Amino acid sequence: MDKLVIEGGVGLKGEVTVSGAKNAVLPIMAASLLTDEPCLIKGVPNLRDTGSMLKILRSLGKLAEFDKGTVSICAGRTRSHVAEYKLVSTMRASFCVLGPLLAKLKKAKVSLPGGCVIGVRPVDLHLKGIRALGADISIDSGYVIARANKLKGAYTYLGGVYGSSVLATDNVMMAAVLAEGRTIIESAACEPEVADLAEFLIKMGAKIKGQGTPVIEIEGVKHLHGATHCIIADRIEAGTLILASLVTGGDILIKNVQCQHLGALVDKLKEAGANLEYRQGSLRVKGNRKLKSVNITTLPYPGFPTDMQAQMMSLMAVTPGISVITEKIYPDRFMHVAELNRMGAHIQREGPHAIVEGIKGLSGAPVMASDLRASASLVLAGLGARGKTSISRIYHLERGYENIEKKLINLGAKVWREKE
Ligand code: EPZ
Repeated sequence: MDKLVIEGGVGLKGEVTVSGAKNAVLPIMAASLLTDEPCLIKGVPNLRDTGSMLKILRSLGKLAEFDKGTVSICAGRTRSHVAEYKLVSTMRASFCVLGPLLAKLKKAKVSLPGGCVIGVRPVDLHLKGIRALGADISIDSGYVIARANKLKGAYTYLGGVYGSSVLATDNVMMAAVLAEGRTIIESAACEPEVADLAEFLIKMGAKIKGQGTPVIEIEGVKHLHGATHCIIADRIEAGTLILASLVTGGDILIKNVQCQHLGALVDKLKEAGANLEYRQGSLRVKGNRKLKSVNITTLPYPGFPTDMQAQMMSLMAVTPGISVITEKIYPDRFMHVAELNRMGAHIQREGPHAIVEGIKGLSGAPVMASDLRASASLVLAGLGARGKTSISRIYHLERGYENIEKKLINLGAKVWREKE
Protein backbone atom coordinates (compact mmCIF):
# COMPACT_ATOMS: atom_id res chain seq x y z
CA MET A 1 0.00 0.00 0.00
CA ASP A 2 1.15 3.54 -0.73
CA LYS A 3 1.27 6.54 1.53
CA LEU A 4 1.08 10.17 0.50
CA VAL A 5 3.83 12.47 1.74
CA ILE A 6 3.33 16.25 1.87
CA GLU A 7 5.95 18.89 2.64
CA GLY A 8 3.65 21.66 3.91
CA GLY A 9 3.84 25.45 3.88
CA VAL A 10 3.64 26.16 0.14
CA GLY A 11 0.99 28.69 -0.97
CA LEU A 12 -0.87 26.99 -3.86
CA LYS A 13 -0.89 29.03 -7.07
CA GLY A 14 -2.32 28.48 -10.56
CA GLU A 15 -5.36 26.92 -12.22
CA VAL A 16 -7.14 23.62 -11.57
CA THR A 17 -10.18 22.00 -13.18
CA VAL A 18 -12.78 20.13 -11.15
CA SER A 19 -13.69 16.60 -12.32
CA GLY A 20 -17.15 15.09 -12.71
CA ALA A 21 -19.21 14.35 -9.60
CA LYS A 22 -18.61 10.88 -8.09
CA ASN A 23 -22.00 10.92 -6.36
CA ALA A 24 -23.78 11.72 -9.63
CA VAL A 25 -22.02 9.21 -11.87
CA LEU A 26 -22.53 6.18 -9.60
CA PRO A 27 -26.37 6.16 -9.63
CA ILE A 28 -26.36 7.26 -13.29
CA MET A 29 -24.25 4.22 -14.20
CA ALA A 30 -26.74 2.07 -12.24
CA ALA A 31 -29.61 3.65 -14.21
CA SER A 32 -28.21 2.08 -17.41
CA LEU A 33 -29.66 -1.21 -16.12
CA LEU A 34 -33.12 0.19 -16.97
CA THR A 35 -32.59 -0.23 -20.71
CA ASP A 36 -31.12 -2.78 -23.12
CA GLU A 37 -29.96 0.06 -25.37
CA PRO A 38 -26.49 1.68 -25.32
CA CYS A 39 -25.75 4.54 -22.89
CA LEU A 40 -22.84 7.00 -23.05
CA ILE A 41 -21.85 8.82 -19.86
CA LYS A 42 -19.29 11.62 -20.30
CA GLY A 43 -17.22 13.65 -17.83
CA VAL A 44 -16.70 10.55 -15.67
CA PRO A 45 -13.84 10.80 -13.15
CA ASN A 46 -11.33 7.93 -13.07
CA LEU A 47 -11.85 6.76 -9.46
CA ARG A 48 -11.79 3.52 -7.49
CA ASP A 49 -15.56 3.89 -7.00
CA THR A 50 -16.34 4.28 -10.70
CA GLY A 51 -14.19 1.21 -11.29
CA SER A 52 -16.22 -0.69 -8.68
CA MET A 53 -19.50 0.28 -10.32
CA LEU A 54 -18.16 -0.91 -13.71
CA LYS A 55 -17.40 -4.31 -12.13
CA ILE A 56 -20.94 -4.50 -10.73
CA LEU A 57 -22.53 -3.65 -14.09
CA ARG A 58 -20.40 -6.32 -15.77
CA SER A 59 -21.40 -8.86 -13.08
CA LEU A 60 -25.03 -8.08 -14.00
CA GLY A 61 -24.36 -8.86 -17.64
CA LYS A 62 -23.66 -5.40 -19.08
CA LEU A 63 -20.77 -4.70 -21.49
CA ALA A 64 -19.35 -1.63 -19.76
CA GLU A 65 -16.11 0.16 -20.67
CA PHE A 66 -14.33 3.28 -19.41
CA ASP A 67 -12.07 5.26 -21.71
CA LYS A 68 -10.81 8.85 -21.48
CA GLY A 69 -13.58 10.07 -19.18
CA THR A 70 -16.40 8.30 -20.97
CA VAL A 71 -18.28 5.22 -19.76
CA SER A 72 -19.94 3.33 -22.57
CA ILE A 73 -22.49 0.76 -21.56
CA CYS A 74 -23.23 -1.14 -24.73
CA ALA A 75 -26.48 -2.66 -25.69
CA GLY A 76 -27.24 -5.94 -23.99
CA ARG A 77 -29.84 -7.36 -21.70
CA THR A 78 -29.41 -7.03 -17.95
CA ARG A 79 -28.95 -10.72 -17.46
CA SER A 80 -28.43 -11.23 -13.74
CA HIS A 81 -30.47 -9.82 -10.88
CA VAL A 82 -27.89 -10.61 -8.18
CA ALA A 83 -25.43 -8.00 -6.86
CA GLU A 84 -22.88 -10.01 -4.87
CA TYR A 85 -21.64 -9.20 -1.35
CA LYS A 86 -17.99 -9.16 -2.44
CA LEU A 87 -18.75 -6.31 -4.83
CA VAL A 88 -21.39 -4.38 -2.84
CA SER A 89 -19.34 -4.50 0.39
CA THR A 90 -16.50 -2.57 -1.29
CA MET A 91 -18.75 0.35 -2.10
CA ARG A 92 -22.03 1.22 -0.37
CA ALA A 93 -23.32 3.19 -3.34
CA SER A 94 -23.71 -0.08 -5.27
CA PHE A 95 -26.91 -0.62 -3.27
CA CYS A 96 -28.54 1.75 -5.76
CA VAL A 97 -28.73 -1.07 -8.32
CA LEU A 98 -31.72 -2.39 -6.34
CA GLY A 99 -34.28 0.01 -7.85
CA PRO A 100 -33.28 -0.37 -11.52
CA LEU A 101 -32.91 -4.18 -11.28
CA LEU A 102 -36.38 -4.50 -9.75
CA ALA A 103 -37.88 -2.13 -12.33
CA LYS A 104 -36.27 -3.94 -15.29
CA LEU A 105 -36.35 -7.60 -14.19
CA LYS A 106 -39.09 -7.46 -11.53
CA LYS A 107 -36.66 -9.15 -9.17
CA ALA A 108 -33.43 -8.22 -7.43
CA LYS A 109 -31.08 -9.79 -4.92
CA VAL A 110 -28.68 -7.17 -3.56
CA SER A 111 -26.28 -7.56 -0.67
CA LEU A 112 -26.92 -5.28 2.27
CA PRO A 113 -24.08 -2.73 2.15
CA GLY A 114 -23.20 -2.91 5.83
CA GLY A 115 -21.84 -0.02 7.81
CA CYS A 116 -18.64 1.95 7.51
CA VAL A 117 -16.54 4.15 9.78
CA ILE A 118 -18.78 7.18 9.32
CA GLY A 119 -21.91 5.45 10.54
CA VAL A 120 -24.30 2.47 10.61
CA ARG A 121 -25.67 3.34 7.16
CA PRO A 122 -29.17 1.73 7.36
CA VAL A 123 -31.34 1.17 4.26
CA ASP A 124 -34.82 1.26 5.85
CA LEU A 125 -35.90 4.25 3.73
CA HIS A 126 -34.84 2.50 0.52
CA LEU A 127 -36.96 -0.53 1.44
CA LYS A 128 -39.90 1.61 2.59
CA GLY A 129 -40.08 3.33 -0.79
CA ILE A 130 -39.64 0.13 -2.80
CA ARG A 131 -42.36 -1.62 -0.75
CA ALA A 132 -44.69 1.34 -1.38
CA LEU A 133 -44.40 0.54 -5.10
CA GLY A 134 -45.73 -2.97 -4.44
CA ALA A 135 -42.55 -5.03 -4.13
CA ASP A 136 -42.28 -7.99 -1.74
CA ILE A 137 -39.06 -7.63 0.20
CA SER A 138 -37.30 -10.13 2.43
CA ILE A 139 -33.87 -10.18 4.05
CA ASP A 140 -31.96 -13.44 3.84
CA SER A 141 -28.30 -14.15 4.71
CA GLY A 142 -27.32 -10.50 4.36
CA TYR A 143 -29.16 -9.97 1.08
CA VAL A 144 -32.23 -7.92 0.25
CA ILE A 145 -34.48 -10.04 -1.98
CA ALA A 146 -37.13 -8.03 -3.81
CA ARG A 147 -39.81 -9.31 -6.19
CA ALA A 148 -42.79 -7.69 -7.90
CA ASN A 149 -45.17 -8.99 -10.57
CA LYS A 150 -45.90 -5.38 -11.34
CA LEU A 151 -44.68 -2.11 -9.78
CA LYS A 152 -47.46 0.41 -9.27
CA GLY A 153 -46.95 4.13 -8.72
CA ALA A 154 -47.56 5.28 -5.14
CA TYR A 155 -47.00 8.09 -2.61
CA THR A 156 -44.09 7.59 -0.27
CA TYR A 157 -42.55 9.79 2.42
CA LEU A 158 -38.77 9.26 2.53
CA GLY A 159 -37.78 11.51 5.45
CA GLY A 160 -35.83 9.74 8.18
CA VAL A 161 -34.52 10.77 11.60
CA TYR A 162 -31.55 12.41 9.86
CA GLY A 163 -33.64 14.00 7.15
CA SER A 164 -33.81 12.99 3.49
CA SER A 165 -31.74 10.17 1.96
CA VAL A 166 -29.80 10.68 -1.28
CA LEU A 167 -29.47 7.06 -2.40
CA ALA A 168 -32.92 6.06 -1.14
CA THR A 169 -34.38 8.85 -3.31
CA ASP A 170 -32.27 7.57 -6.22
CA ASN A 171 -33.35 3.94 -5.70
CA VAL A 172 -37.07 4.73 -5.44
CA MET A 173 -36.95 7.12 -8.40
CA MET A 174 -35.29 4.44 -10.57
CA ALA A 175 -37.86 1.84 -9.48
CA ALA A 176 -40.76 4.22 -10.18
CA VAL A 177 -39.84 5.27 -13.73
CA LEU A 178 -41.10 1.92 -15.13
CA ALA A 179 -43.94 1.46 -12.62
CA GLU A 180 -47.55 1.76 -13.73
CA GLY A 181 -49.01 5.15 -12.80
CA ARG A 182 -47.85 8.11 -10.75
CA THR A 183 -45.33 8.11 -7.90
CA ILE A 184 -44.88 10.99 -5.48
CA ILE A 185 -41.72 11.00 -3.37
CA GLU A 186 -42.13 13.40 -0.45
CA SER A 187 -39.12 14.55 1.60
CA ALA A 188 -36.97 13.60 -1.39
CA ALA A 189 -33.26 14.47 -1.26
CA CYS A 190 -32.56 17.77 -3.09
CA GLU A 191 -28.84 17.21 -3.77
CA PRO A 192 -27.67 18.29 -7.28
CA GLU A 193 -26.52 14.68 -7.85
CA VAL A 194 -30.14 13.46 -7.45
CA ALA A 195 -31.29 16.11 -9.93
CA ASP A 196 -28.54 15.01 -12.35
CA LEU A 197 -29.76 11.40 -12.15
CA ALA A 198 -33.30 12.63 -12.91
CA GLU A 199 -31.97 14.55 -15.95
CA PHE A 200 -30.35 11.33 -17.24
CA LEU A 201 -33.57 9.34 -16.68
CA ILE A 202 -35.57 12.03 -18.53
CA LYS A 203 -33.14 11.72 -21.48
CA MET A 204 -33.92 7.96 -21.39
CA GLY A 205 -37.62 8.79 -21.76
CA ALA A 206 -38.72 8.96 -18.13
CA LYS A 207 -41.37 11.45 -17.02
CA ILE A 208 -40.09 13.23 -13.89
CA LYS A 209 -40.90 16.60 -12.32
CA GLY A 210 -39.67 18.34 -9.14
CA GLN A 211 -36.12 16.92 -9.13
CA GLY A 212 -33.93 19.03 -6.83
CA THR A 213 -36.95 19.86 -4.64
CA PRO A 214 -38.41 17.92 -1.67
CA VAL A 215 -41.30 16.59 -3.81
CA ILE A 216 -40.51 14.52 -6.91
CA GLU A 217 -43.32 13.35 -9.19
CA ILE A 218 -42.79 10.42 -11.58
CA GLU A 219 -45.24 9.24 -14.26
CA GLY A 220 -44.30 5.63 -15.10
CA VAL A 221 -43.60 4.70 -18.75
CA LYS A 222 -43.42 1.32 -20.44
CA HIS A 223 -39.96 1.55 -21.91
CA LEU A 224 -36.73 3.52 -21.56
CA HIS A 225 -34.20 3.95 -24.36
CA GLY A 226 -30.45 4.58 -24.24
CA ALA A 227 -29.10 8.10 -23.70
CA THR A 228 -25.94 10.22 -23.65
CA HIS A 229 -25.24 12.46 -20.68
CA CYS A 230 -22.45 14.64 -19.30
CA ILE A 231 -22.01 14.50 -15.51
CA ILE A 232 -22.17 17.67 -13.39
CA ALA A 233 -18.99 18.96 -11.73
CA ASP A 234 -18.08 17.55 -8.32
CA ARG A 235 -19.08 20.22 -5.77
CA ILE A 236 -17.24 18.41 -2.96
CA GLU A 237 -13.97 18.31 -4.90
CA ALA A 238 -14.48 22.00 -5.70
CA GLY A 239 -15.07 22.75 -2.01
CA THR A 240 -11.97 20.79 -1.04
CA LEU A 241 -9.84 22.77 -3.54
CA ILE A 242 -11.26 26.07 -2.23
CA LEU A 243 -10.12 25.12 1.27
CA ALA A 244 -6.71 24.03 -0.08
CA SER A 245 -6.11 27.61 -1.26
CA LEU A 246 -7.34 29.11 2.01
CA VAL A 247 -5.38 26.78 4.29
CA THR A 248 -2.10 27.44 2.40
CA GLY A 249 -2.59 31.19 1.85
CA GLY A 250 -2.60 30.55 -1.89
CA ASP A 251 -4.21 32.12 -4.94
CA ILE A 252 -5.90 29.62 -7.28
CA LEU A 253 -8.45 29.70 -10.07
CA ILE A 254 -10.81 26.73 -9.90
CA LYS A 255 -12.47 25.93 -13.24
CA ASN A 256 -15.62 23.92 -13.99
CA VAL A 257 -17.27 25.07 -10.74
CA GLN A 258 -21.05 25.23 -10.46
CA CYS A 259 -21.21 27.84 -7.71
CA GLN A 260 -24.97 27.42 -7.36
CA HIS A 261 -24.19 24.02 -5.82
CA LEU A 262 -21.87 25.52 -3.20
CA GLY A 263 -24.16 28.06 -1.55
CA ALA A 264 -23.84 26.91 2.05
CA LEU A 265 -20.04 26.52 1.91
CA VAL A 266 -19.44 29.85 0.14
CA ASP A 267 -21.79 31.59 2.61
CA LYS A 268 -19.83 30.22 5.58
CA LEU A 269 -16.46 31.08 4.03
CA LYS A 270 -17.61 34.66 3.33
CA GLU A 271 -18.77 34.87 6.97
CA ALA A 272 -15.22 33.81 7.91
CA GLY A 273 -13.86 36.62 5.72
CA ALA A 274 -12.59 34.60 2.73
CA ASN A 275 -11.79 36.33 -0.57
CA LEU A 276 -13.79 34.45 -3.26
CA GLU A 277 -14.58 35.82 -6.73
CA TYR A 278 -16.91 33.84 -9.02
CA ARG A 279 -16.68 34.57 -12.75
CA GLN A 280 -18.27 32.56 -15.64
CA GLY A 281 -17.94 29.06 -14.23
CA SER A 282 -14.63 29.70 -12.45
CA LEU A 283 -13.88 30.66 -8.87
CA ARG A 284 -10.79 32.69 -7.83
CA VAL A 285 -9.79 31.87 -4.24
CA LYS A 286 -7.17 34.06 -2.55
CA GLY A 287 -5.97 32.93 0.87
CA ASN A 288 -4.45 36.33 1.61
CA ARG A 289 -6.80 37.35 4.39
CA LYS A 290 -6.86 36.51 8.09
CA LEU A 291 -10.01 34.47 8.62
CA LYS A 292 -12.17 34.23 11.72
CA SER A 293 -13.64 31.02 13.06
CA VAL A 294 -17.26 30.14 12.23
CA ASN A 295 -19.69 27.51 13.53
CA ILE A 296 -20.83 24.74 11.18
CA THR A 297 -23.88 22.45 11.32
CA THR A 298 -24.22 19.83 8.59
CA LEU A 299 -27.69 19.40 7.05
CA PRO A 300 -29.25 17.84 3.94
CA TYR A 301 -28.84 19.97 0.79
CA PRO A 302 -28.99 22.93 0.47
CA GLY A 303 -27.58 22.94 4.03
CA PHE A 304 -23.86 22.68 4.77
CA PRO A 305 -22.75 19.33 3.25
CA THR A 306 -21.60 16.59 5.61
CA ASP A 307 -19.05 15.66 2.93
CA MET A 308 -17.29 18.99 3.58
CA GLN A 309 -17.30 18.77 7.40
CA ALA A 310 -13.91 17.11 7.82
CA GLN A 311 -12.23 19.45 5.35
CA MET A 312 -13.71 22.53 7.03
CA MET A 313 -12.42 21.26 10.37
CA SER A 314 -8.87 21.35 8.99
CA LEU A 315 -9.31 25.02 8.11
CA MET A 316 -10.91 25.90 11.45
CA ALA A 317 -8.07 24.10 13.26
CA VAL A 318 -5.71 26.89 12.11
CA THR A 319 -8.16 29.81 12.25
CA PRO A 320 -8.09 32.00 15.40
CA GLY A 321 -11.13 31.54 17.65
CA ILE A 322 -13.48 28.74 18.63
CA SER A 323 -15.49 26.86 15.99
CA VAL A 324 -18.29 24.49 17.00
CA ILE A 325 -18.84 21.87 14.30
CA THR A 326 -22.08 19.90 14.65
CA GLU A 327 -22.63 16.77 12.55
CA LYS A 328 -26.35 16.16 12.08
CA ILE A 329 -26.17 13.63 9.24
CA TYR A 330 -23.58 11.15 10.57
CA PRO A 331 -23.07 11.95 14.29
CA ASP A 332 -19.99 9.69 14.40
CA ARG A 333 -18.24 11.22 11.39
CA PHE A 334 -15.24 12.40 13.43
CA MET A 335 -12.49 9.84 12.70
CA HIS A 336 -10.31 12.73 11.48
CA VAL A 337 -10.32 14.46 14.90
CA ALA A 338 -7.73 12.18 16.52
CA GLU A 339 -5.47 12.43 13.46
CA LEU A 340 -5.69 16.23 13.33
CA ASN A 341 -4.88 16.34 17.05
CA ARG A 342 -1.77 14.28 16.30
CA MET A 343 -0.73 17.23 14.14
CA GLY A 344 -1.15 19.59 17.09
CA ALA A 345 -4.78 20.64 16.59
CA HIS A 346 -6.89 21.49 19.67
CA ILE A 347 -10.17 19.68 18.94
CA GLN A 348 -12.48 18.17 21.51
CA ARG A 349 -15.33 15.80 20.61
CA GLU A 350 -18.59 16.21 22.53
CA GLY A 351 -21.13 13.74 21.05
CA PRO A 352 -22.25 15.10 17.64
CA HIS A 353 -20.17 18.25 18.24
CA ALA A 354 -16.47 18.99 17.77
CA ILE A 355 -15.13 22.06 19.57
CA VAL A 356 -12.21 23.41 17.54
CA GLU A 357 -9.86 25.93 19.13
CA GLY A 358 -7.90 27.45 16.24
CA ILE A 359 -4.13 27.60 16.67
CA LYS A 360 -1.35 29.32 14.70
CA GLY A 361 -0.35 26.29 12.65
CA LEU A 362 -0.22 22.48 12.64
CA SER A 363 2.96 20.44 12.51
CA GLY A 364 3.48 17.60 10.08
CA ALA A 365 3.19 14.04 11.42
CA PRO A 366 2.50 10.47 10.30
CA VAL A 367 -1.31 10.07 10.18
CA MET A 368 -3.80 7.48 8.95
CA ALA A 369 -6.75 7.93 6.60
CA SER A 370 -9.97 6.23 7.73
CA ASP A 371 -12.50 7.26 5.08
CA LEU A 372 -12.75 9.35 1.95
CA ARG A 373 -13.41 12.80 3.38
CA ALA A 374 -11.26 12.29 6.47
CA SER A 375 -8.35 11.59 4.12
CA ALA A 376 -9.12 14.84 2.27
CA SER A 377 -9.03 16.73 5.57
CA LEU A 378 -5.61 15.24 6.37
CA VAL A 379 -4.30 16.31 2.95
CA LEU A 380 -5.48 19.86 3.65
CA ALA A 381 -3.91 19.79 7.11
CA GLY A 382 -0.63 18.52 5.63
CA LEU A 383 -0.59 21.20 2.92
CA GLY A 384 -0.86 23.94 5.56
CA ALA A 385 1.35 22.35 8.23
CA ARG A 386 5.00 23.03 9.00
CA GLY A 387 7.17 20.08 7.99
CA LYS A 388 6.33 16.69 6.57
CA THR A 389 3.04 14.78 6.86
CA SER A 390 2.70 11.18 5.69
CA ILE A 391 -0.82 9.85 5.18
CA SER A 392 -1.20 6.07 5.12
CA ARG A 393 -4.12 4.07 3.62
CA ILE A 394 -4.60 6.62 0.83
CA TYR A 395 -6.74 4.17 -1.11
CA HIS A 396 -9.54 5.97 0.77
CA LEU A 397 -8.59 9.19 -1.02
CA GLU A 398 -8.43 7.48 -4.42
CA ARG A 399 -12.10 6.51 -4.07
CA GLY A 400 -13.31 10.06 -4.62
CA TYR A 401 -10.58 12.41 -5.90
CA GLU A 402 -9.35 12.02 -9.49
CA ASN A 403 -5.60 12.65 -9.96
CA ILE A 404 -5.56 14.74 -6.77
CA GLU A 405 -1.75 14.50 -6.41
CA LYS A 406 -1.18 15.72 -9.96
CA LYS A 407 -3.66 18.56 -9.44
CA LEU A 408 -1.93 19.65 -6.23
CA ILE A 409 1.58 19.33 -7.71
CA ASN A 410 0.48 21.50 -10.66
CA LEU A 411 -0.53 24.10 -8.05
CA GLY A 412 2.98 24.00 -6.56
CA ALA A 413 2.37 21.59 -3.69
CA LYS A 414 5.26 19.32 -2.60
CA VAL A 415 3.45 15.97 -2.66
CA TRP A 416 4.75 12.50 -3.47
CA ARG A 417 4.03 8.82 -2.86
CA GLU A 418 6.10 6.37 -0.85
CA LYS A 419 5.64 2.69 -0.18
CA GLU A 420 4.08 2.06 3.28
C1 EPZ B 1 -24.86 9.89 -0.06
O1 EPZ B 1 -24.83 8.72 0.73
C2 EPZ B 1 -23.43 10.15 -0.48
N1 EPZ B 1 -22.91 9.02 -1.23
C3 EPZ B 1 -22.56 10.38 0.76
O2 EPZ B 1 -21.27 10.74 0.28
C4 EPZ B 1 -23.13 11.56 1.54
O3 EPZ B 1 -22.38 11.74 2.72
C5 EPZ B 1 -24.60 11.28 1.89
O4 EPZ B 1 -25.35 11.00 0.70
C6 EPZ B 1 -25.25 12.46 2.59
O5 EPZ B 1 -25.16 13.59 1.78
C7 EPZ B 1 -23.29 8.85 -2.51
O6 EPZ B 1 -24.07 9.61 -3.05
C8 EPZ B 1 -22.68 7.69 -3.25
P1 EPZ B 1 -28.05 9.26 2.90
P2 EPZ B 1 -26.21 8.01 1.18
O7 EPZ B 1 -28.92 8.11 2.65
O8 EPZ B 1 -27.24 8.22 0.19
C9 EPZ B 1 -29.63 8.00 7.10
C10 EPZ B 1 -18.95 10.65 0.14
O9 EPZ B 1 -18.09 10.99 0.96
N2 EPZ B 1 -30.37 6.95 6.39
O10 EPZ B 1 -28.37 10.57 2.28
O11 EPZ B 1 -25.88 6.62 1.59
C11 EPZ B 1 -28.13 7.82 7.02
O12 EPZ B 1 -27.67 6.93 8.03
C12 EPZ B 1 -20.17 9.88 0.60
O13 EPZ B 1 -18.91 10.92 -1.09
C13 EPZ B 1 -31.35 6.24 7.08
O14 EPZ B 1 -31.59 6.47 8.26
O15 EPZ B 1 -26.57 8.85 2.48
C14 EPZ B 1 -27.63 9.23 7.24
O16 EPZ B 1 -27.62 9.50 8.62
C15 EPZ B 1 -20.08 9.52 2.08
N3 EPZ B 1 -32.05 5.27 6.43
C16 EPZ B 1 -28.70 10.09 6.55
O17 EPZ B 1 -29.86 9.26 6.45
C17 EPZ B 1 -31.83 5.00 5.10
O18 EPZ B 1 -32.51 4.11 4.54
C18 EPZ B 1 -28.33 10.57 5.16
O19 EPZ B 1 -27.85 9.43 4.47
C19 EPZ B 1 -30.84 5.75 4.42
C20 EPZ B 1 -30.12 6.72 5.08
